[in-house]
Amino acid sequence: MADRRPMIAGNWKMHMTTGDAVTFLEGVAAGVNEDTGGEVVICTPYTALSTVAADIEKKNLKIGLGAQNMHWEETGAFTGEISPLMLVDLGLEFVIVGHSERRQLFGETNETVNKKLKAALDHGLKPIFCVGETLSQREAGQTTEVIAAQIKEGLEGIGGDLSERLVIAYEPIWAIGTGKVAEPEDANDVIRHIRALVGSLFGVDTAQKLRIIYGGSVKPDNVAKIMAEPEIDGALVGGACLKPDSFLKLVNY
Ligand code: PGA
Repeated sequence: MADRRPMIAGNWKMHMTTGDAVTFLEGVAAGVNEDTGGEVVICTPYTALSTVAADIEKKNLKIGLGAQNMHWEETGAFTGEISPLMLVDLGLEFVIVGHSERRQLFGETNETVNKKLKAALDHGLKPIFCVGETLSQREAGQTTEVIAAQIKEGLEGIGGDLSERLVIAYEPIWAIGTGKVAEPEDANDVIRHIRALVGSLFGVDTAQKLRIIYGGSVKPDNVAKIMAEPEIDGALVGGACLKPDSFLKLVNY
């Protein structure tokens, strides 16, 4: 791995009240600050963000904080939406953009993902930009093509050195929440393709420095194998990140 700092990011999805979140942080506090050389991130529901931000600061935890989505406009008549300004106001560093659940259940497209990525970067937030194919696309041999379109259209019109400001998460949709993890070698191959594409779009130097992580049924018992692959720089974890003991095993893989 070309000196890319590994990242373990937890995506809480629609789980955890503020009380649950504080209990979780108590449970991980003793184990999360061990110096593994990696970066640890949690992306909580909006409702828990300010409580979690305050608790991370109070307990002096080495955990980066992120949201799971955002709108691209700063303000306006968008009932129910949250803007990049609001996330910056909470002191957040990260935001997940284009998660497959947002794409599949809430109508996000490469075009709206592109607007969100631009807005996040413009506001100094680091997007964790999710891409991935469905099972039928994989079976039809379309994985590379689908992901290339997601990346090209998602990053359209975005320039500058993205290597420190963006993380790409490859999440095959058929592996999310299903217990079916992609074979680490297969995930590594797809990520190698993604890196080559990033290289052709943004230059080889950016591609070598940019972190590309894997997500989809990552668990304490498979994380080490996944992280051993040379192209895989980290994991985006849903179900297995919700309990302190499991989260700590992931972080300290
Ligand atoms: P999972 O979710 O770990 O529960 O498969 C991953 C994700 O959706 O980011």
